[in-house]
Amino acid sequence: MKKSDVVHLILGDRLQNPLYSESATAFAPTNIALCKYWGKRDSELNLPNTSSLSISLGDKGATTTLQVKDQADDQVTFNHEKILSSSGFHKRLTAFLDLFRTQKSLHFQINIKANIPLAAGLASSACGFASLVLALDQLFHWQLSLKHLSILARLGSGSAARSITPGFVEWEKGIQDDGMDSYGKLLPETWPDLCVGLLMVNQNEKKISSREAMQRTIDTSLFYPLWPEKVEQDLIHIKKAIHEKDFLLLGKTAESNALTMHGIMLSAWPPISYYLPETISAMQTIWALREQGLALFFTQDAGPNLKLLFLAHDFERIKKCFTTMELVKPFLPRVFNKT
Ligand code: DP6
Repeated sequence: MKKSDVVHLILGDRLQNPLYSESATAFAPTNIALCKYWGKRDSELNLPNTSSLSISLGDKGATTTLQVKDQADDQVTFNHEKILSSSGFHKRLTAFLDLFRTQKSLHFQINIKANIPLAAGLASSACGFASLVLALDQLFHWQLSLKHLSILARLGSGSAARSITPGFVEWEKGIQDDGMDSYGKLLPETWPDLCVGLLMVNQNEKKISSREAMQRTIDTSLFYPLWPEKVEQDLIHIKKAIHEKDFLLLGKTAESNALTMHGIMLSAWPPISYYLPETISAMQTIWALREQGLALFFTQDAGPNLKLLFLAHDFERIKKCFTTMELVKPFLPRVFNKT
């Protein structure tokens, strides 16, 4: 099945509707997976091998403004800088927008502003595609459900399926070939004391994309078959931890899930490592602090940066050890009550 078939399933006749606003702007938060998505059962539709569970990062994310323009092609800016049409980023965006053009001649000015670094393992494709889908929904007056918004965002990037709402989101893998049962669902729980610390050790782009790294892991790692089993167990523990506000269980499970994902990547061939010496050194500091009784854990995505997990009352102590860390409170009322 192709992406355009899924778009037809969701939008049907609405795809022909020539009515649209001149411009639309939408924000989507980035999200950090506490239980990761690593591996696709369908790489065209970004259908995952396993379910995953994330937390959206409040007001950290991307704002996309879409304008319909009378011009020969799409123009893209990222944080006010023009993106070359020959770049991979531009191509990925225009290919995605091709799915929604009511006429071939319809072109857009796309301005994306993000308050997180692009492609440095802070899931910027997640909030980028989610905010683009939310802006399209407004522009074309589709008024789609959260489920359908999540499915469309997934067609852009898998993890974008979890970036449509704030809060804890579980992306169920689904079993259908068309992926209509594979989308992000908001969990009812909130956790106001939960903090995420962004520890940037390097802001450069990642050398190998998640898409390529996942495929190589599946194709060559002897350990990949163990991953779905690990995820199944971790999801049970993470949901229990969220429900019972058991921070130690949450932190331990999230950290172990990330380490397992990176361990499996190391066993791929050629090996994949997103570690830098600074990543390892920060991990060792975290482990040492934990030995001293501090409830501090981390998770890591497809980049060298770490996201620290802790509770609000430990912030001052942690900030002393990681002075460059940026604090995010995912459940800050001003952010969480906006939607
Ligand atoms: C390590 O969503 O970027 O961040 O579907 O190919 O666009 P594509 O991959 P992407 O992968 C994210 C991988 C991860 C784990 C996660 O966010 O669950």
